[in-house]
Amino acid sequence: MLKIVPGEAALIFSSSGSNTLLISDLHLGLEKEMARRGFRIPSYSVKMVERIRKLAEEFGTERIVILGDVKHSVGKVEDIDWGLLPWFFETMLDLFPAVEVVPGNHDGSIRTFVPQRVILHPSEGAVLGDGRSRIGVAHGHAWPSEAAIGTGRLVIGHSHFTYEMKDKFGSRSRESVWISAHYRIERLLASAGYRTKKKGDGDLIVMPPFNRMVGGHPINRAGAFKFGPVMSSGCVALDDADVFLLDGTRIS
Ligand SMILES: [Fe+2]
Repeated sequence: MLKIVPGEAALIFSSSGSNTLLISDLHLGLEKEMARRGFRIPSYSVKMVERIRKLAEEFGTERIVILGDVKHSVGKVEDIDWGLLPWFFETMLDLFPAVEVVPGNHDGSIRTFVPQRVILHPSEGAVLGDGRSRIGVAHGHAWPSEAAIGTGRLVIGHSHFTYEMKDKFGSRSRESVWISAHYRIERLLASAGYRTKKKGDGDLIVMPPFNRMVGGHPINRAGAFKFGPVMSSGCVALDDADVFLLDGTRIS
């Protein structure tokens, strides 16, 4: 069973009597880029860890799976990565018996920082759970694995989708959104280039970023969904998608 945590960019996945916390797009170290641009956000990464701690306590989660973009820097490792990532992973290992990461496009050098006790999945994702309760998880910048798509319940991050609003004075605001949409398993598998006879209806969930400071793509602008292979594939029924703000307000 998959449950959205009201008010949070987090899912609880329950299978075989244990709860797993799913979050995506932490972008740890974003503070450094913001500082370069003249914005000061002191210790935002610490605040995110406190939110994770609360979720772990509230839901009694035995595992955390991070769906990519654990860190913000792309390419070369930044000073701030050395300051944050070892502390982050040690804290996660204190909070959860199992810690797993599916790398995102910002995680090219993440292996340097991942302790042995943390499971680092391939970037094509992983399958969680057993039997009928299985789900596929991936970051979403690359095609998820055949097995992940084939579960018929696929969860990705990466897109940072938002809904943009404009008031009568012209001020704009953007809020993160959840997207839930159907897909045909055989069409998505074929689009990804997998040769398989697997068929059926699938559900896709696109998670909002756990980091609330990170930028996003407004879904109510032209071409917004052309982001990542799954969303760009034309195989996801985006016209009929359910779109919600974090507080549960339905957008469509
Ligand atoms: Fe991201």
